[in-house]
Amino acid sequence: MLIAQITDTHVSAPGVLTCGGAVDSTARFAAAIQQLNSLTPRPACVLITGDLADQGQPEEYEVFAELLDHIEIPVHCAIGNHDDRRVIVNALQLPAPLPGGWVQYCVDDYPVRLILLDSTSNVHHMAEFCEERLNWLRDRLAEQPDRPTVVAIHHPPFDTGIAFLDALGPGWAADLIALLGEHDNVELVVSGHVHRSIQTVVGGNLANICPSTAQQTTMDLAENPSADALFVLEPPAFQVHRVGEGPVVTHTVPVGDYEGVIKVTPEARAGWADGDPRVLLAKRDHHSPSA
Ligand SMILES: [Fe+2]
Repeated sequence: MLIAQITDTHVSAPGVLTCGGAVDSTARFAAAIQQLNSLTPRPACVLITGDLADQGQPEEYEVFAELLDHIEIPVHCAIGNHDDRRVIVNALQLPAPLPGGWVQYCVDDYPVRLILLDSTSNVHHMAEFCEERLNWLRDRLAEQPDRPTVVAIHHPPFDTGIAFLDALGPGWAADLIALLGEHDNVELVVSGHVHRSIQTVVGGNLANICPSTAQQTTMDLAENPSADALFVLEPPAFQVHRVGEGPVVTHTVPVGDYEGVIKVTPEARAGWADGDPRVLLAKRDHHSPSA
């Protein structure tokens, strides 16, 4: 099963740019949707892993919902620290929250089960995962212990090496990681929040952060990161995960303008098998977008 993942769309109100006025995140999300719709074969669905809106405002979710109408496959949204759960459940018609207000739910429509979690706080932008949310997840995982499962959670349950985002440390996720580690049917844990493509293993589970469709975080692994270069306008991107068919495979799909495809003829591909790279070079046909 192919599952697309888009994250940190940071959609804004009409006419408003995000990230200090530098990013048209709404336009970038729209471009990602166009690219997603063009994929062949199409993913079965798309997970959008939080920070759907930039400021959690109702008018931003109106824009977001309008854009969702253009996505030609089912969409399942998780909440991020820029979202407002009081608004998002109604605006996007998400399943009813837990008694504590947390937006967590399962999707059982596919060969792979999707479990969407809520790692946000009511008082700050850092991650948290309380007993109520943990117990809910424990019960859900116990329901179908043998079914391939993907868990989506906005904040990644691991440190990335990007200091200003790791400030809280991974301690908040210790119980979550231990629980997930008890379930080897959890094939993949997908997150956003960091605005970069990052992969690791936590508690025996493969864990992945998808790049944002808005700005990316600067690649800065220094202990004391630069104070004035936190974000960079690398191309927006999303990912496609193949899950439930052998080892998990993740592809990153850049969005936007770049040099055109290089067509390789069947004869040239036959040359690969002969180990003769000159055949490939002789046969390639480079098309620029303007051609
Ligand atoms: Fe974000």
